[in-house]
Amino acid sequence: MVKKAIFPVGGLGTRFLPATKALPKEMLPVVDKPLIQYAIEEAIEAGIEEFIFVTGRNKTAIEDHFDHSVELEAVLHQKQKHEALETVRNMMRVPGTVAYVRQQEPAGLGHAVWCARHLVGNEPVAVLLADDLVLGQPALKEMTDNYQGGNMVAVMEVPKEDTSSYGIVTAGSDDGTMVTIDGIVEKPSPQNAPSNLAVIGRYIIEPEIFDVLGAQEAGVGGEIQLTDALATRIGASPFSGYRFSGKRFDCGSKIGFQKANIAFSLERDDMADELRAWLATQI
Ligand code: UTP
Repeated sequence: MVKKAIFPVGGLGTRFLPATKALPKEMLPVVDKPLIQYAIEEAIEAGIEEFIFVTGRNKTAIEDHFDHSVELEAVLHQKQKHEALETVRNMMRVPGTVAYVRQQEPAGLGHAVWCARHLVGNEPVAVLLADDLVLGQPALKEMTDNYQGGNMVAVMEVPKEDTSSYGIVTAGSDDGTMVTIDGIVEKPSPQNAPSNLAVIGRYIIEPEIFDVLGAQEAGVGGEIQLTDALATRIGASPFSGYRFSGKRFDCGSKIGFQKANIAFSLERDDMADELRAWLATQI
């Protein structure tokens, strides 16, 4: 039912300077794969067939990553490095299923999503933020398996003192996995937060959201917020939150990125034992 996904990669990544001055944040590697590749693979597992990147200046490395590298492939072929060749060739999608649109200025996540409107058309679309990395079950697949129309966001409990970093929802009915959402507010202070149930970077949005975004004023931080558009649709269409089962890492922050690298390395047979032994000597 959900066949298209938007990958907003137009942000400046200011929390990760100087690494992100020339390198897109989404190209930072966790173990040996850039963040954006994890997001694409998660989308594929959820059945997504069309991939829309909303890029900005200095983001051409992302386009190159998902294209042929003729020289590299020739060398790998010549040296009979078949496994490596397979790895780089596997990243290619079916021609014509990957589109890029530029967000000329980073005016916010809502604005980035709106930039993709003509490529989406009149159908629900997934939105994945690559800097939210999930270890375990693919979060978007859990959502698409349970999607029944309207808008849906991935949610998780966060410490109350951290609410000002997230969109925070007011839950109505709650079966422990799915919640109905009665309200949503972007980055509330802990005193003003309606709950500690936070939105993380996986959404399924209905096409009506694009019209709302097109008419929307800037919100928190002077940015066009996707959260504000979702809030506008409450009452008009169903709005649900899905408590995904995996563990999420905020790879847009330096500490979250370090934790992700350790956690993902500990899942790797070729690294886990040595890393675990070394970590034990450090604490
Ligand atoms: P962030 O809030 O992490 O912003 O955006 P950022 O600018 O990338 O990073 P910091 O806070 O300055 O360090 C969440 C997601 O939305 C995208 C980002 O690329 C990221 O995936 N985004 C944000 C856009 O595509 N365009 C924007 O204008 C803002």
